[in-house]
Amino acid sequence: MKDHIVELKDVSKIFVTNSGSLELFTDVNIDFYPSTSYALIGESGVGKSTLLHIASGLENPSSGEVFFGRQNFWDLKASNQALLRLNETAIIFQQYNLIPCLSVRENIEFQSRINKKHNSEYIKTIIEDLQIARLLEEWPENLSGGEQQRVAIARALAAQPKILFADEPTGSLDEKNSKQVLDMLLNVNRKYNTSLVVITHSLAIASKLEVCLELKSRKISKK
Ligand SMILES: Nc1ncnc2c1ncn2[C@@H]1O[C@H](COP(=O)(O)OP(=O)(O)OP(=O)(O)O)[C@@H](O)[C@H]1O
Ligand SMILES: [Mg+2]
Repeated sequence: MKDHIVELKDVSKIFVTNSGSLELFTDVNIDFYPSTSYALIGESGVGKSTLLHIASGLENPSSGEVFFGRQNFWDLKASNQALLRLNETAIIFQQYNLIPCLSVRENIEFQSRINKKHNSEYIKTIIEDLQIARLLEEWPENLSGGEQQRVAIARALAAQPKILFADEPTGSLDEKNSKQVLDMLLNVNRKYNTSLVVITHSLAIASKLEVCLELKSRKISKK
């Protein structure tokens, strides 16, 4: 059996809000293996984005553990946590989260420059494939939703992560662009052995990924 990249062990998440506590999921166990593609499906509000943020080390679970390889993520020093996030993961956020004070080009190159995986030729290909070359000197706020989403995709791909988390990466794209983005993600998964975790409401997209996980009634099950 291959070693996982990321493992969630008995992970639960409870938010305490003004209207009481909200228990999103309980005792979730998932192993994310190298070179494997995962779909994460479930109804709106069920906690998919929160689970993705926990699996990528951005948000801590209320209980349970997150392992990156053999390292218990939340036992590490903050600086080591940051290094793991930087070097091993990349995220396409549901709300894109482009950095407003950086140009599109600087956004795309940002993580890849810090993690020292910057590769101009590779980035050029990504930019051409996503048809965002004419936007490179723009500010993110001047872009349409679909354009911002494609820049967010370019930024994550440019970082060459071991595991790429994509939160509804085609949510703002038309059918043609959606198909192209999915093909790009699958290509990276096959060619560079990047693990892929894609939140989606599209069963057509889910069917193209190897493992389909459903979050429902606070539990994860394989479909
Ligand atoms: N920081 C927070 N504090 C309190 N409640 C939160 C917080 N983050 C998320 N929630 C709540 O947790 C629930 C799950 O949110 P989440 O964004 O994970 O759902 P989702 O499955 O990704 O939904 P969608 O498909 O609509 O994107 C929502 O009811 C949300 O309001
Ligand atoms: Mg979400």
